[in-house]
Amino acid sequence: MIFSIRNIALAFLVLFISATVVLWRAPAMESETKVLSDGISSSELVARGEYLVTAGNCASCHTTQDGEFMSGGLPFETMFGTIYSTNITPDPLTGIGSWTEIDFLNSLRHGVRPNGDHLYPAFPYNAYTKASDGDISAMFAYLKSIKPVNKSPKKNDLAFPFNLRPLMAFWKLLYFQPGVFEVSEGKSDQWNRGAYLVEALAHCSACHTPRNLLGAERATAHMAGGEFLDLVSRERYRTWSAPNLTATNRGLSLWSEQDLADYLKTARNDILESFGPMNEVIINSTRYLEVQDVKAMVTYLKSLTAVPEREAVAPAPEVMGRGRTIYNLHCGTCHLPTGEGDSEMAPRLDRGSLVVQDENPASMINAILYGPHLPSPPLLPKWREPMQEFQYLLDDEEVASAATFIRHSWGNASGVVTAEQVARQR
Ligand code: HEC
Ligand code: HEC
Ligand code: HEC
Repeated sequence: MIFSIRNIALAFLVLFISATVVLWRAPAMESETKVLSDGISSSELVARGEYLVTAGNCASCHTTQDGEFMSGGLPFETMFGTIYSTNITPDPLTGIGSWTEIDFLNSLRHGVRPNGDHLYPAFPYNAYTKASDGDISAMFAYLKSIKPVNKSPKKNDLAFPFNLRPLMAFWKLLYFQPGVFEVSEGKSDQWNRGAYLVEALAHCSACHTPRNLLGAERATAHMAGGEFLDLVSRERYRTWSAPNLTATNRGLSLWSEQDLADYLKTARNDILESFGPMNEVIINSTRYLEVQDVKAMVTYLKSLTAVPEREAVAPAPEVMGRGRTIYNLHCGTCHLPTGEGDSEMAPRLDRGSLVVQDENPASMINAILYGPHLPSPPLLPKWREPMQEFQYLLDDEEVASAATFIRHSWGNASGVVTAEQVARQR
């Protein structure tokens, strides 16, 4: 191939350096004299901040499995290398204890550190920039109230030139729009509240929007399905696909408002239970939100304009036949031969799962190879027995044909999964 990854990377490097030299600017920062909070008592401010920090799901990224609350150190595997989240406890040396409120505002609103260094967008400040001054002030008050932990995160391990923070100035110029959320006048209060929660805090788009070669969200395909690296089992990182949340027949139109509200509030609905990266989103964040706020998010999400998938290629009859045999042998006992599922045995796979209908089968393959991991801490048991992992039981060809059979039966129309796509997830 002429356009090898290396050539593309070098081209970007040249572009980056020249453009950064030309376009160099001091980072945008706010005035130290600005007043953020709207005059409520400090205990009210802390309580409100805790709610907002939960809605923003800071903990999923800033708290490791065995680490202390908000003390950072979680690795983010990106195509440019590994970035570690930082310590955001009020420790003055290793955390944000010596920061002013304006320093904190600058990090969320502008993606800059107090010393002017640019932050990497693995920290989703492209969403948090939309949070209001008052809400940022409340989050700061809350974070200042939690237990300080003295711990420095590991050094980032990024490939040149991405290890150079000043180059982020150019990236931000191209892809980052700082600025507070603007209310849409023609829309209801409920819709606007939902849009604010989803876009400024919950950052659903960080995973559900596809990214370009330089890791920026593609605005024209907002929420139309993205992918990223995350754990599939202990210490094994693989691609996950986050399905299309716009109003297509394979996306969020599959679910009623109630289905979506139940899913975000309880990790389950009448169709299925959450697994994979959504577990943390729900267990650490959305389940704690007030019912009114979940309803508002649902109103906004269900209003997203459809960004259609590519038309699926119909599988060959022999692949469907082979897939049916494997399905009936290994899957049908729980998911039933009709794919309807059973309230005690397994979720339905017929026209209900966005993961099954996703154009990108990565997450569906992960569920089959590694088993769909249930939310942790566990909810009240719903299923009689968990689904096992099939990585040692079925080969690539077999997983591919079973997945293809499911994706093309019972009203599903999401096309072929190839053995190569399965091999990539191993
Ligand atoms: C998707 C993961 C993710 C989420 C969610 C997240 N962060 Fe971060 N955050 C990071 C990473 C990674 C960094 C380090 C970025 C860097 O090194 O440039 C970071 C850096 C920061 C910094 C800069 C700290 C420093 O020392 O420079 C602050 C402040 C911060 N995050 C606060 C928050 C708050 C508040 C929330 C919730 C509203 C939050 N983060 C949610 C991943 C995340
Ligand atoms: C850390 C990345 C990430 C974030 C943030 C995220 N999602 Fe997801 N989402 C995924 C992935 C990956 C899947 C598919 C696998 C799974 O369900 O975990 C998914 C699946 C879903 C599904 C389909 C579930 C199914 O089984 O069919 C819905 C609905 C959904 N997400 C809604 C949301 C909403 C709403 C938000 C914001 C509140 C959100 N997601 C935030 C990664 C994410
Ligand atoms: C022992 C019963 C059982 C068997 C056998 C079984 N599953 Fe499952 N499956 C489940 C349960 C239970 C879940 C829900 C777990 C969760 O979501 O956390 C599930 C979830 C799934 C999901 C995720 C659906 C979604 O969007 O949430 C897929 C895809 C899936 N199974 C496919 C298969 C395939 C393919 C096979 C056969 C190779 C199979 N299952 C065999 C019980 C089973």
